[in-house]
Amino acid sequence: MIEKITDLAKKIIKDQKNVKIAVDMTAGTGKDSLFILENLEPGLLYSFDIQDEAERKTKNLIGPRKNFKFIKDGHQNIDKHITDKIDLGVYNLGYLPGSDQQITTRSQTTIESLDKLLKLLNKNGRIILTIYRGHKEGNKEAKEIETYLGGLKEKDYACLKLSFPNKEETSPYIIIIDKKF
Ligand SMILES: C[S@@+](CC[C@H](N)C(=O)[O-])C[C@H]1O[C@@H](n2cnc3c(N)ncnc32)[C@H](O)[C@@H]1O
Repeated sequence: MIEKITDLAKKIIKDQKNVKIAVDMTAGTGKDSLFILENLEPGLLYSFDIQDEAERKTKNLIGPRKNFKFIKDGHQNIDKHITDKIDLGVYNLGYLPGSDQQITTRSQTTIESLDKLLKLLNKNGRIILTIYRGHKEGNKEAKEIETYLGGLKEKDYACLKLSFPNKEETSPYIIIIDKKF
């Protein structure tokens, strides 16, 4: 049974095959990064976050691994750090639970990073976004991401939105983007 959006995100992450390079665009506690490492065993996982707390938690959780690199920078600067083609990009948007809610992902930088990530994505590569629209910035971010994605050509990208119709209207949801070329 899929009751929580995070359960669904995990299933979708696990579904992606032959992942050589993966990027966790929002490392936070490092739990998603660890899940990617343990389930997909990518050749290399890059994890971005802007917070010291996220860096500490993620590095503590994962420990030293040859195939893991934490990047303490905004994901909108992805092109400054990664030139390799990417097979999987994962976003868990919003703020780190239990810490400063002002340090949250924001539509402008999220969309800038998405635009760059789409260019770096391999053919058949996938982006998975878990989107939280229950807080003010998250609601704005959700709307602006959808407007941006609405402009992508159908021949180039398959975009799928997954939500729970019998939960609150502001409940989190997932968008998957698959690159066709
Ligand atoms: C909901 S949390 C991520 C949860 C995480 N995936 C986990 O497994 O715990 C969102 C994270 O995005 C980070 N963040 C906010 N703006 C960012 C940016 N521009 N670039 C990278 N990370 C950012 C926050 O610091 C926060 O840790």
